[in-house]
This record gives sequence, C-alpha cells and structure tokens, in this order.
Amino acid sequence: MRRQSDSPDIRSIIADRVSRRGFLLGTGSTLGAVAASGFVGSLFSGAAHAQAVQSSLGFTELTRILDQDSHVAPGYRADTLVRWGDAMKAGQAIMEPAAMAAPDQADRFGYNCDFTAFMPLPKGSANSDHGLLCVNNEYASPNVMFPGVTWDNMPDSLTDDQVRMINMAVGHSVVEIRREGGTWAVVQDSAMNRRFTIDTEFAIAGPLAGHPWMKTSYDPQGVMVRGTHYNCAGGVTPWGTILSCEEGAYDTFRGDVAAHPQAAVLERYSYDGSDYYGRARIDPRFDLAVEPNEPNRFDWVIEIDPYDPTSTPVKRTALGRNHHEGATIWHNVDGRIVVYMGDDSNFEYVYRFVSEEVFDPADPQSGRNILDSGVLSVARFDADGTVAWLPLVYGTGPLTAENGFADQSEVLLKTRLAADALGATPMDRPEGIEANPVTGRVYANMTKNKGISADALNSVNTRPENFYGHIVELIPPGGPGHGSDHTSNVFSWDLFVLCGNPVAPEHGARWHADTSQDGWFVNPDNLTFDPKGRMFVSTDGANDFGLPDGVYGVDTEGPARGLPKLLFAAPMGAECAGPAFTPDGTTLFVSVQHPGEDSDTTANLTTLWPDFKEGGLPRPAVVAIQRLDGGEVAS
Ligand code: FEO
Ligand code: CA
Ligand code: CA
Repeated sequence: MRRQSDSPDIRSIIADRVSRRGFLLGTGSTLGAVAASGFVGSLFSGAAHAQAVQSSLGFTELTRILDQDSHVAPGYRADTLVRWGDAMKAGQAIMEPAAMAAPDQADRFGYNCDFTAFMPLPKGSANSDHGLLCVNNEYASPNVMFPGVTWDNMPDSLTDDQVRMINMAVGHSVVEIRREGGTWAVVQDSAMNRRFTIDTEFAIAGPLAGHPWMKTSYDPQGVMVRGTHYNCAGGVTPWGTILSCEEGAYDTFRGDVAAHPQAAVLERYSYDGSDYYGRARIDPRFDLAVEPNEPNRFDWVIEIDPYDPTSTPVKRTALGRNHHEGATIWHNVDGRIVVYMGDDSNFEYVYRFVSEEVFDPADPQSGRNILDSGVLSVARFDADGTVAWLPLVYGTGPLTAENGFADQSEVLLKTRLAADALGATPMDRPEGIEANPVTGRVYANMTKNKGISADALNSVNTRPENFYGHIVELIPPGGPGHGSDHTSNVFSWDLFVLCGNPVAPEHGARWHADTSQDGWFVNPDNLTFDPKGRMFVSTDGANDFGLPDGVYGVDTEGPARGLPKLLFAAPMGAECAGPAFTPDGTTLFVSVQHPGEDSDTTANLTTLWPDFKEGGLPRPAVVAIQRLDGGEVAS
C-alpha cells in the first residue's frame, strides 16, 4: 500500500486507512453484513453453476476468507518460494530477519516484494522449470520489522543501523529458481543471484544523460546515479531484460522544498521534505540543501539485464518521470516497441512510449538502447469513446520555452507538468496497464480515488468517492491480436468493469451478471495474462472492506467477459502484487506484500505469515501457485 503521493504524510495515510475501514464496514450495506458475519460465500446457490458453465476458467472458486493465513482455490497449492531475509549466496546461513543487520540484508532477499518476472534459463528458451525470478522490493514496513517503531514515531525511533538496513532491504532481487518434482526452490549458490539497493550504481541513459539538473557532487557529469528505491511494478522486454519502475521518492528527502530552485517541480511531484525513513541522517545526498539535484535522479523507469550479473543497470529517461507503477511492452506489427505506463497517484495520467527504431527478434541486440529514443505520449479519454494520445514533444503546442520547457529534456524531467499543459485526462490512480497478448486490447487498472468529487468526474472516471476502482479497456485500431496498431494516436476505449459489490447499490459496481460474492473485487492493482489471454488481477486495498486482497482470474472475451473468479487470498495486512506466469502457464508467481503491516508494532502482530514462528516476524514473500495435477493454472 505504502503512502499515497497525493497525501504525502504516511501517518495520516495509516490513520485514514483505519478510519476508512470503520466507515466502510459501518454502512449497514449488504457488504457490511456479509463481512461482519464472516460469511462471504455465494449469495445464490445457482450462481456457481451458471459461472462454471460460462467462465473459460474451470477451477472451483476459492471461498473468500480474511485471516492470518493465505488461501488458494481447491485443487491448487501455493508454496512460499522466497521470502524477506532468505539467503542468496553460497554458504549463507539461515537467519531470522529479527537478527539481521544491514550487511546481512545487502546479500539477502529484500522486503515488500512487488513486480515479479520469470526469465527462463537458458536465455531465449521457454523453459518453465528453471529460470531467474526478478522481484521488486518496493519499500520497508519498519513497524513490523523493529520493536518499538511505529508509523507515528518514525523516523526518530529508527536507529542509524536500522535506516541502513531499510536501505539495503529495498530495490530489487534476482534469484535463480528451479522446479524439481513439482516444487520450486531458490538456487542459493547461483552466481546470477543479485541484489540492487539504494547504493547500486545505475547509468543514466536517454535525453537526461549529462543534463545540468542531473549533476551532483558525487556525479559531476550527470551520468551515474547511486541507487534505486520505491520499485513498484515493471515489465519484461523481448530482448531479455526487465523494466522496474520507481514510484516516487517524494518522502525520502529532507529540507525546505519551497526554498528549492525547482520548487514548483518538486511540489508537482509531491516532494514534502519529510525524510520519512531518516535517510538524510546517514547520507547527505538526501538533504535538499546539500544536493538539490538528487531528487531529479529518481522517479524513472530502470532496465536490468538479469542474465548478466556484471551488467550495469540503466535509468531510461526517455520514458518520462513520474510515480511509475509499471512499464509493459507490446512489440508492434511494424516492429516498433510500445511501452504502456501508469502514474500511480490520484488524478494522474496514463502514458505510452513508442520507440523510434524497430526491434528485430532475430537480433536481440537491436533492443539494447531502443528505449532511449522515441515519442512519449499521454492519454486523453474523450466522451465519444476515443483515446487521443498526445505527444510530449518539445515545441509542439504549449510545450515551449515560454511555458517553462526549455527543451525535450525538461519536458521529460517535468513529465507531469507537460501532461497538465496538454490537457490529459486525470484518472482514478492508474496502476497496472498491460495488453492482452491474444486480442491486443489494453487494460488499465484504476485502483481507486476516494478524493474524486462529483464535479470532478469525467466519462472514464465515473464514480464520486471511488473507493472501489475500475478497469478501462483501450482498443487500438487494426486488431485483433498482433495486427493491431499500438502506435496509432487514436484508440477507442470502454469501461471493462466497475469494481465493488454487485449487490450493494451504493457501490455502483458493474460486472458480469453471474459474478459471485467471492468473485467481485475492489482496488485492482497489477494484472497479467495467461498464455490463452485470460486476465489475472491482483488487488491492493480490500482489507478496508474487511476482505482479503487476492488474485482473480477474469475472462475478457466471450460470454463470460467481465466475470471474475477468486484464485488466491492473502493474509491480513497484505496486498497481492506482480502476478507472472511461467511460459507454459503451469505456475503463477505472486508477491504477498506487507503481511501484518496493519499491526501497530511488533508487539501486537496481526499475522506471522508465512512461517508462523513464535517470536518471529511476518515476512513478505513470493508464492508459487500450481495446480495439484501440474496442469495449467488457468484451466
Ligand atoms: Fe507500489 Fe503503485 O503501488
Ligand atoms: Ca501497485
Ligand atoms: Ca496499489
């Protein structure tokens, strides 16, 4: 969940989360009654039969339950594959997280797993039994890591060593994994295992490389950044790398934002000078007065080559700067590379990048720097059902020096301001966006926007106080499938589903008519597709409704279009993130992020998932979901 960037103070976020939960459960609605009784089975006995006939997903739906444990549908297993603090180097001992210090954490699996990608081994194969699991570690939850630390008493309650440990717990983890006898395990001594932390060196590529606003005392050339953090979702490229997205470093710098030379830019990006994790105490680059350009070096999309453990990761500035949720790729019919991205904050925008060059699958090197030149656009959703992609190109329309954009570098550095100037459509917090590999249609998750008032609605964000979220369908011309042209500047759009309880009129939800009381969901976050094009959505926020976050399969085509089915439920306090299939569809990897984060402190933990060890801590983890018979998950 982390803090939301439209409301920078995490203390108010947590307080708000608690009060909102009470509000939602106290409405006296059908939802409230269902959740309070603990019964969340199907309301109508016939519904399950109708659903089983119509859904292309034949599995028996999980009965929804929110408790200390995770749960998976009958006929499946969900095994903990790798969790916070797990060893990643030869000879490392098993270590309880409570005993770890920063030097230990630097070589062990990070905290709060989010995006996951399975990259087959050997490279270029479609092997589904052996590969690299690439996992973002978005942020840390100190209230359930360290005794006596609460969201309210940070950062003063954190010791310097704890701050260092947090810095080593975030970023990204690459682990080699292998399936033997149906069970996945980490290859602990693999030379390909690798951590990326707040100290890892990144090259700066694209238009901002060498820009005066990127230069610091550490990097006087403006070409090398130390570190990545707030890595949320991401994407996989067809040339064998992964994209990982920096979701906004606005609370990690100390200082007076109003006194900053680019105060208006920092404020538009929600920078608040709070230094919420105490980083400036141990590293002066996080002090705005010491290194005023350091914030400009974050909030980008990064690219990692997991197959080369000596490779230098890269920040790809041509993809723009915002609170990036993810970056998913479509290889267009004309050979160009298209990247879809959401900016995960209330009233922010949906973006698309189209490469200048073409990618040739026969020559993977043709993808090497392809993301450094191209056109970034932002979406305007019109009431007539069309999407206009508005190019963020210096010199076009209002993007001129007179309006504060000196060149293309400044357009990219100030992406949000440029998108404002073009009249893009403010959305209800865009998170995951991905194209269905079978149909070519693109789906964009709007997770929620409780702050939207009736007079701020538009044709694609239709509910005031949108606690529930919705999914927008974008339809490129020339489809279906790989004939569709994702580079066109005009798409059409539709509302795929409006989330919420279909039998609670005040939610205003819209689903397939056969949606069960276990199947509907709220707060869609990430999404992926199985090899046959069925959507799988992970959610973040359902605890506000007394429900677990989970993973849901949804048909996007045919008679069951818009019919969700619950496959997996997370334990208390946790969101689900980063669903990713093996190429053969027989394993679905899912991140269980921040279990027990709803606890006040380690003294009253709401769960000890996944180990349930007395005196231990909850541990964010990636689970591997498989059918007990070894068949495709989405069957
Ligand atoms: Fe990290 Fe956008 O959720
Ligand atoms: Ca997310
Ligand atoms: Ca989220």
